[in-house]
Amino acid sequence: MQVSDSVTQRQCIRSFLDKPVDPQLINEILNAARWAPSGANTQPWQVMVVSGNSKQTIGERIIAAREDGQKENPDYDYYPENWIEPYRRRRYETGMALYSALHIEKSDHEKRKAAWYQNYHFFGAPVGLLFFMDKQMGRGSLLDMGMFIQNIMLMAEHHGLGTCPQASLAEYPDIVREILEVENDYLLLCGMALGYPDSSAPVNNYRVERVAVSDFTRWYD
Ligand SMILES: Cc1cc2nc3c(=O)[nH]c(=O)nc-3n(C[C@H](O)[C@H](O)[C@H](O)COP(=O)(O)O)c2cc1C
Repeated sequence: MQVSDSVTQRQCIRSFLDKPVDPQLINEILNAARWAPSGANTQPWQVMVVSGNSKQTIGERIIAAREDGQKENPDYDYYPENWIEPYRRRRYETGMALYSALHIEKSDHEKRKAAWYQNYHFFGAPVGLLFFMDKQMGRGSLLDMGMFIQNIMLMAEHHGLGTCPQASLAEYPDIVREILEVENDYLLLCGMALGYPDSSAPVNNYRVERVAVSDFTRWYD
């Protein structure tokens, strides 16, 4: 697969086949992704690969915390507190597109909640990845993390695998750190579902638009 095809064809996958992913293939993907650039070659990433019990426990514990009314306590603010345009509208449209693909009415709070909770079980993917970064590093390392994570998604695409990056899995970092026995020195940035896409699932068969190049680019001579 051409790099350009991986870049433009990748889309979030939120329904997976009940088919395991060979750990050697995961290793191969990570082995390629580590060639991501990073400031001063600091390579700030730490990846936790979960499946089976650990993955199941993460889902159960986060859902229990939510049901218990425990407040989210993320290590960093992924989203703004106050949404402004055009981001507010883009976010709204993206949410609507997802629920429409799932045939869930906007007013059906129970079904929306159930769909959202799928996040915590990595959308049923056989493998989950959790991305951590050393607390001592600066904000610039977040750029490095993003490049590394994108490399993983593109390599997964190349190998016929589907992914969904998930900030939702970083809402209760203490729970995840406790289950995986990760030191407090590491910030949890996000998770990712990884597996073979169920190409027949409607949720995998819609795309969200992008704004035109001219909307975000200024040219200078
Ligand atoms: C860092 C990051 C975190 C995300 N978190 C979630 C998430 O928790 N749940 C989810 O369903 N999608 C999540 N997404 C997926 C975005 O909604 C998706 O990338 C966006 O709508 C564009 O769709 P596409 O990736 O299918 O092109 C996340 C994306 C990124 C980059």
